[in-house]
Amino acid sequence: MKKRVAILISGRGSNMRSLMAAASAPDFPVEIALVISNIGSAAGIQFAADAGIATEIVPHKAYESREAFDRAVSAHLEEAKIDIVCLAGFMRILSDWFASRWQGRMINIHPSLLPLFKGTHVHEQALQAGVRVSGCTVHFVVPELDAGPIIAQATVPVESDDTPETLATRVLVEEHKLYPAALKLLAEGKVRLEVGRAVFSR
Ligand code: GRF
Repeated sequence: MKKRVAILISGRGSNMRSLMAAASAPDFPVEIALVISNIGSAAGIQFAADAGIATEIVPHKAYESREAFDRAVSAHLEEAKIDIVCLAGFMRILSDWFASRWQGRMINIHPSLLPLFKGTHVHEQALQAGVRVSGCTVHFVVPELDAGPIIAQATVPVESDDTPETLATRVLVEEHKLYPAALKLLAEGKVRLEVGRAVFSR
């Protein structure tokens, strides 16, 4: 039985597209059942709708609090009987309530080798620090931003003439491979969240 997955986005949705492409393979253990965006004009939403996937716009500005917004998102997820939530460029900080509600069933991709360079302007942070490798991380979502137990990482070299844009482009290529692989692990029950760490099995 394929796991029902929702993807939460705010923008172009290239990671969403990589998950959709992976899920189009018959043996991939996931069906992309829903895409939600807090931004109505997000390019990714149109792409998902054109591909025949159910979409919802939940405009955060329409809600009086972070938790009220999160409860509206969660209601859509529950209505669609979602098993796993993938954050993919979803630019909202989540309430503790939402993180707890989907704990162990919600993952995120971040374009650095966590725990280095959390938050935004990640590639600027990496270049500023002078690291010679960077990469991306898929992790379980916990209330603290970019802090959950790590499921998978991939590395790229940092070149001496890199700009934030060239580094972002190199990292993004790896993101598009890493996220489907990490989602597959979770969907197949080969990784689970246990008291603050990711536990793997064959
Ligand atoms: C990606 O770099 C992802 O790691 C970060 O936000 C960006 C989203 O890009 N969380 P896209 O919308 O998936 O193209």
